[in-house]
Amino acid sequence: MKIVAFNSSPRRKKSNTNRILLPFLDGAKEAGADVELVYLYDKTIKPCLGCYACWLKTPGECCQKDDMAELLPKMMRADVIVYATPLYVFGMTAQMKLLLDRIIPSVEPYIELTDKGHCTHPAREGKTKSGMVVVSNCGFQELDNFDEMMAHFSVIARHGRGRIRGALLRPEGEFLEMAEKLMPEKVEPVYAAAREAGRELVRNGRVSEETEKAVAAQLLSKEQFVQGANAYFKEMVDKATHA
Ligand SMILES: Cc1cc2nc3c(=O)[nH]c(=O)nc-3n(C[C@H](O)[C@H](O)[C@H](O)COP(=O)(O)O)c2cc1C
Repeated sequence: MKIVAFNSSPRRKKSNTNRILLPFLDGAKEAGADVELVYLYDKTIKPCLGCYACWLKTPGECCQKDDMAELLPKMMRADVIVYATPLYVFGMTAQMKLLLDRIIPSVEPYIELTDKGHCTHPAREGKTKSGMVVVSNCGFQELDNFDEMMAHFSVIARHGRGRIRGALLRPEGEFLEMAEKLMPEKVEPVYAAAREAGRELVRNGRVSEETEKAVAAQLLSKEQFVQGANAYFKEMVDKATHA
C-alpha cells in the first residue's frame, strides 16, 4: 500500500498534528506500507486562478508553475492519501484547502451521474481511486468541533476521491505535550491507538471505530480542562506582556 500524508500545520515537525500522525504512519510502515510525509508549509502552492485552462486549454495540466507539479502526481499514484490538519476555525487550514483546490486538473470537465443520481466530474484516466484518512487535532475538548470539517472531507470522498478509511480526531490537542509529562498513563494509550490505526489501515483496509475512539479519548474533566487552560494562558500572557 502506497500512502502519501500531507501535514498542513504551520508548526510542521513540532505540530500537535504530528503527535498523532507520526505514530499512525509508523504503524502503517510496520505493517508493510510504503509511506511518504510531506509538510505543506515547505511547499509553494499558489491559489487556483479559476481559469479552467487545466480543463480546456491544456487538459490535466495547470497553467501555474509551482510545487503542485510534484504533489498532484503523488496524490494520483497513492492508494491512500492522509490529510493531516489542525482544526482552524472549525475547518482545515488554508494550506490544505489550497492543495485541494488544485486537484481540479485530475478530473474531467464533463459531468456524469453517480449511482445515486448525483452530478460529479469523472477522474481523468490514470487516476487511482485513492482512499482517504483524516488526521486532525483541535484546541477545544469536544469531538463535535470536527463535524463540519469531516462533512467537507466526506463530500470530497464521495466525489470520487475514494472512501474515508479512518478519522483520527484528537481534541485537547494543545494539552498533549503537557499530558505527556503529567499523565503519561493516559496519553500513551492515545499514541498506541494511533499506531494501531496505521496497522489496521494496512491490514484491514480501514481503521476500526474502537481505535478511532481510543485516539479521541478524553484526558481531562470539563472543569479541569477549562481551569487548566485558563491558568496556562494567564501565565503565558503575563510572561509575554512583562518580558
Ligand atoms: C487560526 C487558528 C484557528 C483555530 N481554530 C480552532 C477551532 O476552530 N477550534 C478549536 O478547537 N481549535 C482551534 N484552534 C486551535 C488549534 O487547533 C490547536 O492549537 C492545535 O493544537 C494546533 O495544532 P498544530 O500544532 O498541529 O498546528 C485554532 C488555532 C489557530 C491558530
